[in-house]
Amino acid sequence: TRTPVNVTVTGAAGQIGYALLFRIASGHLLGPDVPVKLRLLEIPQAVKAAEGTAMELDDCAFPLLKGIDIFDNPTDGFAGANVALLVGARPRTQGMERGDLLSANGGIFKPQGEAINAGAADDIKVLVVGNPANTNALIAQQHAPDVPAERFTAMTRLDHNRAISQLAQKTGAAVSDIAKLTIWGNHSATQYPDIFHAEIAGKNAAETVNDEAWLADTFIPTVAKRGAAIIEARGASSAASAANAAIDHVYTWVNGTKPGDWTSMGVVSDGSYGVPAGLISSFPVTCQDGKWEIVQGLEINEFSRGRIDASVNELAEERDAVRELGLI
Ligand code: NAI
Repeated sequence: TRTPVNVTVTGAAGQIGYALLFRIASGHLLGPDVPVKLRLLEIPQAVKAAEGTAMELDDCAFPLLKGIDIFDNPTDGFAGANVALLVGARPRTQGMERGDLLSANGGIFKPQGEAINAGAADDIKVLVVGNPANTNALIAQQHAPDVPAERFTAMTRLDHNRAISQLAQKTGAAVSDIAKLTIWGNHSATQYPDIFHAEIAGKNAAETVNDEAWLADTFIPTVAKRGAAIIEARGASSAASAANAAIDHVYTWVNGTKPGDWTSMGVVSDGSYGVPAGLISSFPVTCQDGKWEIVQGLEINEFSRGRIDASVNELAEERDAVRELGLI
């Protein structure tokens, strides 16, 4: 029998955690034949709530779930982790300045990066969901010098999935007919969902849509501001769809992209497409054998260039800000 994979989830008692843990335990994160052990990391005040979720996980009698441990400190939480989902973060509260937000999150992601560096398994794969996801991933990565930088990724899969759904609705296509869509840049309102290389049943998506006004004035802002629209409608931020995207991100990373398709992931730049090396930016990536690779050689038109640059500039500003704060 297979050795269970250790999956650490931070923010386990939060709303994404509640939507995420049951799907990990039922085999959706890694595959239907991969046993898992869950390691739940929470702040001390939320450990009791995490214990309640663990009771419910027990009550599902999931055949693949081989154990649940709960921790209130990163050193123990990440010990032996093969996969780490960094969901817990400090949200922006009213009146909070960007510097305060970045500092508060630095206080979370620096020690978590150090703990991953010290104690995670050699094959550790990290997905940062907690916002600001790209910069939090950068902070953690910078404090894990012994872990290859490509093991730290940030989630833009929710944006990717949102864009596929919007494009399917606009064109009447099935979501399964849409391929090669790209989210570029930061997981923020400046992100750029790009359909110029996307395909709908093998035909170019931008040519099929043939409506640049819709692209600029409807599609891009709808995808970029979807998080706010969900909060407005639901009275709470996206949780099940965010958990679903985290599942998709790791599943694709581990099990590979489909031939003729790619996905979007926030990954460390090697300088491709003019994105400064070292920034954790969303790119089109293919995955195979547990490794991702940035899709090369795409032609970037003027419409796309300005939007990619704007989002990447925001990432560079966030990096400079955390540098000034001494967080990296
Ligand atoms: P939540 O507030 O319901 O849960 C967050 C949990 O994290 C809380 O239980 C809290 O106790 C815990 N936590 C805080 N600091 C921690 C630490 N140092 N270690 C371990 N746990 C800690 O928030 P929710 O809705 O679950 O969202 C979590 C994060 O995901 C937020 O930052 C949110 O902005 C982000 N998010 C990112 C998305 C993306 O596409 N990248 C999409 C949706 C949400």
